[in-house]
Amino acid sequence: MAGRRHRALKGPSGQPRDDPRSWPAGALVILVGASGCGKSTWAAQRFQPHEVLSSDAFRAMVAGDQADQSATADAFRLLHAAARARLRRGLLTVIDATNVTTAARGSLLRLARGAGRPAVAVVFDVPLERCLANNARRPDRQVPESVVRRHVGQLAGARAALADEGFAIIHVVGAPEVEPR
Ligand code: CTP
Ligand code: MG
Repeated sequence: MAGRRHRALKGPSGQPRDDPRSWPAGALVILVGASGCGKSTWAAQRFQPHEVLSSDAFRAMVAGDQADQSATADAFRLLHAAARARLRRGLLTVIDATNVTTAARGSLLRLARGAGRPAVAVVFDVPLERCLANNARRPDRQVPESVVRRHVGQLAGARAALADEGFAIIHVVGAPEVEPR
């Protein structure tokens, strides 16, 4: 995908649609990006902590370890339940997980549809090298390089399909926006 692509450049109030503050209040915002691309950092800079549901946080909640992959099914069950509860209240909700597969995005899109809320995709267009470099100097946990490579490959394959998955807005975050400071 070259550059940013949106269904419309301006929202109903005339604000640019790449400004998260212009997104519908009750939207489900689905981050889509490889491990290490900067999703959690980006979300923390723009949203309140209670607005962001992170798969890592739910793994930590159920298993005491945010990296325990054996907790993934339980973590996502709870994450989906929390998202459903928030959307029913009309609260904007950000899903901080890689969401690089059609299946992962599909279950979240169904959830948004079931609650009658629009879904926004935030796609991180960050080169593999940057993801690997971020990953290598993480103080908390490091993801195996093969996993990061797989994510980047899955995302590259999904880009064309994403446009037809039913998102109200597709916001692309480029590498400069997640450049380490
Ligand atoms: N990072 C940074 N500056 C940025 C973005 C990321 O220094 N603008 C660093 C973070 O501090 C972190 C690493 O890069 O140590 C990965 O960023 P993070 O936001 O945690 O990446 P995620 O995409 O959330 O990775 P994961 O899917 O594994 O949670
Ligand atoms: Mg993260």
